[in-house]
Amino acid sequence: MKGIILAGGIGSRLFPLTKITNKHLLPVYNEPMIYYPLRTLVDAGIKDIMIVTGGDHAGNFLRLLGNGKEFGLKGINYAYQEKEGGIAEALGLAEYFADGEKVVVVLGDNIIEKSIRAEVSAFDKQTEGARILLKEVEHPERFGVAEFEGDRIVKITEKPKMPMTKYAVTGIYMYDGKVFDIIKTLKPSGRGELEITDVNNSYIQKGTLTYSKLEGWWTDAGTFDSLLRANNLVAAMK
Ligand code: G1P
Repeated sequence: MKGIILAGGIGSRLFPLTKITNKHLLPVYNEPMIYYPLRTLVDAGIKDIMIVTGGDHAGNFLRLLGNGKEFGLKGINYAYQEKEGGIAEALGLAEYFADGEKVVVVLGDNIIEKSIRAEVSAFDKQTEGARILLKEVEHPERFGVAEFEGDRIVKITEKPKMPMTKYAVTGIYMYDGKVFDIIKTLKPSGRGELEITDVNNSYIQKGTLTYSKLEGWWTDAGTFDSLLRANNLVAAMK
């Protein structure tokens, strides 16, 4: 299985911290943010990794990570997103890298406490479809939110004003090779982006989306409050 880290965007919610650098290069306690998703993949046994980034500071990823030697990697693949087209558009740029294989996708600002090795291995055995990771949170309205019928997810709503459950869809997604065909059918959302939630809803409609509930803490780090939270959670662990 291959790994993809999505580390683009202009980080507008963290302006002016992101005026002269990419969000994913900002510090989270004692390491740059991108180290955490990279370690999430490497710890799950994934060694073939692509980082999709963009903007004016993309070259700094290469300066920081080089060939990934510090992470035990032989090399890192990079792709450049030319416009701010959303998470699903960024993922689409990794089609040639995935080359039909299954992929584990991690948003570059998602930081977790525990390993996802078991979830990745469950998806490895899944013959087709997608697998997402959910986490119960206090403020689901900031995220994609899952709705259930029994144990089955029937719908995901992106940032609902009135969330039906407290289960946020975390930024760790596993997809089969068909994900790139799905992305090609998407239309831009109200915020002008190709939404990863639309990709997941498409797998729900096909009846091939599975999920796990994530163990340990999870946070994103794309706002001042969540970046502070990420720093505190990581610091408490070290
Ligand atoms: C994105 C996704 C959202 C998901 C979240 C996880 O939101 O659109 O569904 O719950 O990441 O971090 P964003 O933070 O880009 O607004």
